[in-house]
Amino acid sequence: MKKNNQKLWGGRFSAPTDELVEEFTASIKFDRRLYAEDIAGSIAHARMLARQEIIPAADLKPLVDGLEQIREEIVSGTFEFSVALEDIHMNIESRLGEIVGLEIAGRLHTGRSRNDQVALDFRLYIRRQLLAVEGLIVDLIKVLVDKAESNLDVIMPGFTHLQQAQPVLFAHHLLAYVEMFKRDSERLADCRKRLSLSPLGSGALAGSSFSLDRESVAAELGFSGVTANSLDAVSDRDGVAEALFDFSLLMVHLTRFCEELVLWSSVQFNFISLSDSFCTGSSIMPQKKNPDVPELIRGKSGRVVGSLVNILMTLKSLPLAYNKDMQEDKEPFFDALDTVVGSLRIMAPMIAEMRLNDEVMASQAGAGFSTATEIADYLVRKGLPFRLAHEVVGRVVGFCEAEDLLFTDLSMLQWREFSDLFADDLLALLAPLDAVNAKDLYGGTARAQVCVQIALLRKYLGSVLV
Ligand code: ARG
Repeated sequence: MKKNNQKLWGGRFSAPTDELVEEFTASIKFDRRLYAEDIAGSIAHARMLARQEIIPAADLKPLVDGLEQIREEIVSGTFEFSVALEDIHMNIESRLGEIVGLEIAGRLHTGRSRNDQVALDFRLYIRRQLLAVEGLIVDLIKVLVDKAESNLDVIMPGFTHLQQAQPVLFAHHLLAYVEMFKRDSERLADCRKRLSLSPLGSGALAGSSFSLDRESVAAELGFSGVTANSLDAVSDRDGVAEALFDFSLLMVHLTRFCEELVLWSSVQFNFISLSDSFCTGSSIMPQKKNPDVPELIRGKSGRVVGSLVNILMTLKSLPLAYNKDMQEDKEPFFDALDTVVGSLRIMAPMIAEMRLNDEVMASQAGAGFSTATEIADYLVRKGLPFRLAHEVVGRVVGFCEAEDLLFTDLSMLQWREFSDLFADDLLALLAPLDAVNAKDLYGGTARAQVCVQIALLRKYLGSVLV
């Protein structure tokens, strides 16, 4: 097939484009990812033009058939992309001319500019991809809820400052991440709402002098309405920036989790074992099993946050309306999207296959005087002001540390040397599991409360999983 690389805007030019310029300004290498949205947008536009009698009714079928043929050519890999044709819009339009003839193909772009065309394509693309990411987040949430539910008896030390603080249920710890991921998914859905107005009909910047039916095109493409200001519509990239922030925060949440997986799988913690199929070895140290996957997710988060900064810097100080700078909006989004999708996809099976060393976790849960707050609360219930109770238990901890003893090693006589409020009912509080189940307030780590949350999350999953 002989390629027609004739510029679609060549009329006023007398010299050919410099090859370096062609290469430098072309976006086809990356914006070809918008082909499906570009074709869907063109078909809807063509139908509307025919309905409004702006183009001859007889032209509609060849236009639609031609565009569908192009879609098939792209899907099957036979479409020949050309850098000289700059971007996905002109590659497709030029090919359409080859298929249906310039007379008919030349009518498609009536009442449209590449500026409202690319704004439309990218909105459609982002909406579709955000929905897919929301689905992947929900898949991960389901794995976490399953893991929490099947390990309801596992207790572990809860940390502040990475120092042992109070014992918690392992399930409670996992569900903390579920809350983050749930918010991440809601944020993406919220972002899609603001991407639900169609910019088509905004033209290059000023609107259109044809009697376009903007609403019907918008409805056909699944939008809920049309944009209100043509200047804004062709230069608004808020959705890209918002989506990249949402991706960034999602990645930050993933890095927090991954950091814990790296720590927990170390010999020093030994809380979990990641499946062999999710780890790699060392080329020199035969004993090594490295948690590469969580490390790499942690590392890749930088690309996503970098993409957010990238789009914000691209948009900063841009005068209205469209500027070529805006072509730089796509690569950061694509790269961030690929990173997020790759990370979520691998995270779910890695968590599903991870094994817990519950005995180590449980023994650590009781170490470090982790029930001290419980004992102070006990004194408070016996009438001592909290600050004084804190002081008393602090002294017990100091004594135990000096004597290398645990709370459970002390006799009642020894306890009573610190306060005569201590009595035999204290003994029911000293085990970590007792401390866990004492936190029986909504949102706390008691088993009953964690079960409440699991039930709520099952309901949530039921409403979002189709
Ligand atoms: N490839 C361009 C982009 O992604 C399409 C819009 C070009 N518009 C223009 N007036 N040059 O931004």
